[in-house]
Amino acid sequence: MSMTTAPAEDPTKLAEFESRLNAGETIEPKDWMPEKYRKQLIRMMSQHAHSEIVGMLPEGNWITRAPSLRRKMVLLAKVQDEAGHGLYIYCGTETLNVSREELVDQLLTGKAKYSSIFNYPTLTWADIGVIGWFVDGAAIVNQTMLAKTSYGPYARAMIRICKEENFHKRQGYEICSVLSNGTPAQKAMVQDAVNRWWWPSLMMFGPSDAASPNSAELMRWRVKKETNDALRQRFVNLTIPQALAINLTVPDPGLRYDAETENWEFGAIDWSEFQQVIAGNGPCNRERLAARRKAHDDGAWVREAAEAHAARQAAKAQSSAA
Ligand code: 3HC
Repeated sequence: MSMTTAPAEDPTKLAEFESRLNAGETIEPKDWMPEKYRKQLIRMMSQHAHSEIVGMLPEGNWITRAPSLRRKMVLLAKVQDEAGHGLYIYCGTETLNVSREELVDQLLTGKAKYSSIFNYPTLTWADIGVIGWFVDGAAIVNQTMLAKTSYGPYARAMIRICKEENFHKRQGYEICSVLSNGTPAQKAMVQDAVNRWWWPSLMMFGPSDAASPNSAELMRWRVKKETNDALRQRFVNLTIPQALAINLTVPDPGLRYDAETENWEFGAIDWSEFQQVIAGNGPCNRERLAARRKAHDDGAWVREAAEAHAARQAAKAQSSAA
């Protein structure tokens, strides 16, 4: 798709672009956009897509060990949804004049990031419930905001994906509720999972606003409508009452409700852990990338067959046109 991107130093076009955004207009693939806007979107959207694809791994680990046929079917459906979300967002990213091959290569070579949350291990079945409740719950908070982002293809992708995320969160919360009301061992298992996933889930929203190098520009260009801290606070405010409703606690001694702000104030996040994980030193980073590289290599024959088929079809079309 040809992109009419003039050099970002074109002040007239830039002023026009920003007045369109300020009027609440949506930018479409064929519209003029500053190169930096395009690059920011490719970065954010491709990393989102990578997160969806890598995110299949921790949950996929439990498909063969789900405790019942019903739980297995629900988990299968969720993991398949995540694959679809990834492909959907990759397609949206390709409207910015970047190829799928390039994006996948950035993931497999470690050049691109994916969400830190997927670098933690799923140790028990309760982890599957907490991932649905916390991780998809956090994704819903973030993606509901992104459904109003200024780039049309991304906003539309979010509208469709959020509907499926709601199912993901509900099934996860149901698993946690059943376990919390189950035997003492089941209750202990789900509380242990909450303890392990709570802080990494808060880190999903990114560094604090003061430490976020991309937020100011993304807010100015209405790619992000709310900041990392604002979304994180919304997630905490939503999730604590849900934990209380099923008699679970979060591992935060500093947690307290502020009736004035109506916020659940929470303790300090360990940003050194976050930096370690996004630098590739989390518990499962190597395992996740190795799994993605193997899947890519094992799928080479499918790509080759599809390319050979496309070439034959093109040759047939050419000879019948001659
Ligand atoms: N994991 C990995 N990297 C992260 C991160 C996280 N949780 N949070 C921030 N970072 C990275 C950023 O990518 C950036 O690095 P880069 O410049 O090399 O890309 C750096 O840390 C600084 O962070 P910023 O706050 O400046 O970056 P952003 O403004 O891009 O904000 C974000 C980070 C909030 C993740 C934003 O990119 C975003 O909203 N992305 C789209 C949503 C998304 O990717 N969600 C991931 C989860 S997907 C998911 O949960 C699937 C669901 O089905 C379960």
